[in-house]
Amino acid sequence: MRVIGSINMDVVVEVERAPGAGETVLGSDYRLHPGGKGANQAVAAARLGAPVDMVGCLGRDAYGDALFKALRREAMALDHVQRVATPSGAAFITVERGGQNRIVVAPGANAQLSAERLPADLERTDWLLLQLEVPLPTVTAAAARARAGGAKVVLNAAPAAPLPAELAEAVDYLVVNETEAGALLGVEAPAHAEQALQLAARLRTVRSTVVLTLGAQGSVWSGPAGQGHVAALPVEVVDTTACGDAYVGALVWALGAGQPLARAIELANANGALTATREGAQPSLPTFHELRRFAAF
Ligand code: RIB
Repeated sequence: MRVIGSINMDVVVEVERAPGAGETVLGSDYRLHPGGKGANQAVAAARLGAPVDMVGCLGRDAYGDALFKALRREAMALDHVQRVATPSGAAFITVERGGQNRIVVAPGANAQLSAERLPADLERTDWLLLQLEVPLPTVTAAAARARAGGAKVVLNAAPAAPLPAELAEAVDYLVVNETEAGALLGVEAPAHAEQALQLAARLRTVRSTVVLTLGAQGSVWSGPAGQGHVAALPVEVVDTTACGDAYVGALVWALGAGQPLARAIELANANGALTATREGAQPSLPTFHELRRFAAF
């Protein structure tokens, strides 16, 4: 599978509560963790055993060196991770008591991932996983090229942005959380699973499946093969950062390994839940053995 997306250094501060407008609050000392939705999802899938080829851009700076070194420790291909003359992407994250996070991303080198930088053999991809932290025209071009070559295209539309028709048409699986689903449709985020199923049905196309994650309420899906809801697994939440990435990475790993959609969603759900029990983005992502122990399969 190929993952085309962002690679960020996460600058994380724990706070009692997030500051309001014009307010200053004191937090913990900051910590640096490798992150970025693209890299997180690539690492999540690779740790579960998926063959992953990561495509992205890093700056020629100290963060770029550290992020590349962290990715090199994972079992994934990095031939398409390019170094560019722009500072590496960074994300500024506050984590509140209870694990809720707020994230501001400075795209940096991620914004340099133009369509011209995409791999020449993109048409020879089986599963393509995309998010929206790299330029939208690049995401659209990648989806169209990979789909033309017969790939299954998975889009995690995060952070939410209006999707060009060409992109929406190329997508096989659209994965969004409740806030992103509301933003894509210009409505309130769904309050419960029943409402989420209605939004998922509105978001899907004739061909595509929509998977909508609901945090503590689990996730729902709607697609040509039907619809369903899987409840969240009860865990002690430490930090919700990268839970969505753990979910998406596991979903594509499981689908790519031939699991039926309902089972793939159960596994994704478990991987997201386990990630919430640990701190940081990439440091919190489970290995196959950890997931197997947690989900008892
Ligand atoms: O989804 C979590 C990620 O969002 C963080 O690692 C941060 O880098 C931002 O991209």
